[in-house]
Amino acid sequence: MTADKKLAAIVLAAGFGTRMRSALPKVLHELAGHPMIVRVLETIGELGAEPTIVVVGHGGNQVEQVIADRFGGRGIRFADQKQPRGTGDAARCGIAMLSADFAGEVLIVCGDMPRVSAATLRRFVAEHRTSGAQLSLITAQVDDAARYGRVIRDRSGTVSAIVEAADATPAQLALREINTGVYLCAADTLRSAIGQLRPVNAQGEYYLTDVIAIANARADRVCAWVAENPAEFGGINSREELAAMESGMRREINRRLMAAGVTMIDPATAYISEEAEIGRDCVIGPNVQILGRCLIGNEVRIEGTAWLREVVIGDRTHLKMGVRAEQCRIGEDCEIGPFANLRAGTELVGHNRIGNFVETKQARIGRGSKASHLSYLGDADIGNDTNVGCGVITVNYDGFDKHRTEIGDRCMIGCDTQLVAPVKVGNDVYVAAGATIVREVPAGALCLSRHPQAVKPGWTEGWRKRHRKDAATDAEKSDRGHRGGNK
Ligand code: UD1
Ligand code: CA
Repeated sequence: MTADKKLAAIVLAAGFGTRMRSALPKVLHELAGHPMIVRVLETIGELGAEPTIVVVGHGGNQVEQVIADRFGGRGIRFADQKQPRGTGDAARCGIAMLSADFAGEVLIVCGDMPRVSAATLRRFVAEHRTSGAQLSLITAQVDDAARYGRVIRDRSGTVSAIVEAADATPAQLALREINTGVYLCAADTLRSAIGQLRPVNAQGEYYLTDVIAIANARADRVCAWVAENPAEFGGINSREELAAMESGMRREINRRLMAAGVTMIDPATAYISEEAEIGRDCVIGPNVQILGRCLIGNEVRIEGTAWLREVVIGDRTHLKMGVRAEQCRIGEDCEIGPFANLRAGTELVGHNRIGNFVETKQARIGRGSKASHLSYLGDADIGNDTNVGCGVITVNYDGFDKHRTEIGDRCMIGCDTQLVAPVKVGNDVYVAAGATIVREVPAGALCLSRHPQAVKPGWTEGWRKRHRKDAATDAEKSDRGHRGGNK
């Protein structure tokens, strides 16, 4: 940003958001995983506006909390609009938070336009400065002008006014150029124009848009900058618009990834975050969600129906049908699933096999080790080339604390073994099936813990005979009961 003029920003976020029909303030609804207001403020942050004032009202505390959690105290101030009396009134509340001697420019954006980019806003600010206008706004040409404000131009093409859809004549409604709701104005001009606003319109509100006509009447220069990419300026007023915007973003993300060498069996069912990085020749099957910051290497195959959040996956790993993984590292050449649940803190070093119905949590599993069927491995450190048999369970929780299980390299942990933590199994240990391990097993040992097996030859026949006899007597009894029974 050119350092010659100071820039402040006001973000309008106090509206009721009536059309969302929600207990949650509109600007806190998430677009592709991030609240709308967070996206807008991240963009504004890139412009280096100082200060940035967020006008809050309906659900203000909640909005402030989300912003404070995400940005800390960094240059963001809040203005309280007690009643939602319109965008003009909201802007007035925002300006009141600026120091009276602030003589720079004020950028105003709506909190419900989460796709606007910093690059576009930067260009807008630069255009405004070279144009020498007192007031600039961004407009867009759209096919469906819907409920946006219409841009009225005079014969010379100068913008003379904005008319809200609710107040427009049929001829004005037919116009395709709309007001995006982004303005830039010298602080003094804005202060005095806002002072002149009157709520004389169909909605009985103070319209910020009226400052255009007011500036014109005072012979201030107004400059309308037509957006190159109208999609950036979609305002979200309903859940349907939110979903439509998100699906538009998804299409763009998927197009970019496919152009970069990722195969998608059906891009319509690939839900991938903007932050995700996916390597060359990966194959994304149907119904896959890759959320948050995921780093996926080359030639990774995700068969389908996967839910992945903040995971790192090494090259050539194969995720079979139905894998859920969160905050974990999966090394290269692994084979996961079908139906595996890798919870936070799982680290698979590489060349691992995690099979169906295996759950892991805070577990480091060394190179080449496997757990192929039906296990729970929580709070565990497992060495290299160890085989965890079917149904093995780390018993990690005593009702108060979690305890760790350590297993060495090259072990064979027999099926249906329980490891009661804290417990340690050394290298090269064989644990016989069905063991309950409660004490340390030294390296190289065979460990057995099972009840002696009792065998009673021919027992089954006797058992069945006894039962058949009982069954016959029962039937007789009930038969007699029926015949002689009372009505
Ligand atoms: C507004 C513009 C319209 C433009 C559209 C772009 C006005 C009068 N109309 O209409 O010309 O085409 O945005 O998306 O400005 N807000 C407050 N306090 C209020 C009312 C609103 O803070 O009292 C905030 C809302 O939270 C929202 C923003 O201002 O973030 C826009 O308000 P909204 O009611 O959505 O205006 P639109 O009808 O969409
Ligand atoms: Ca809006």
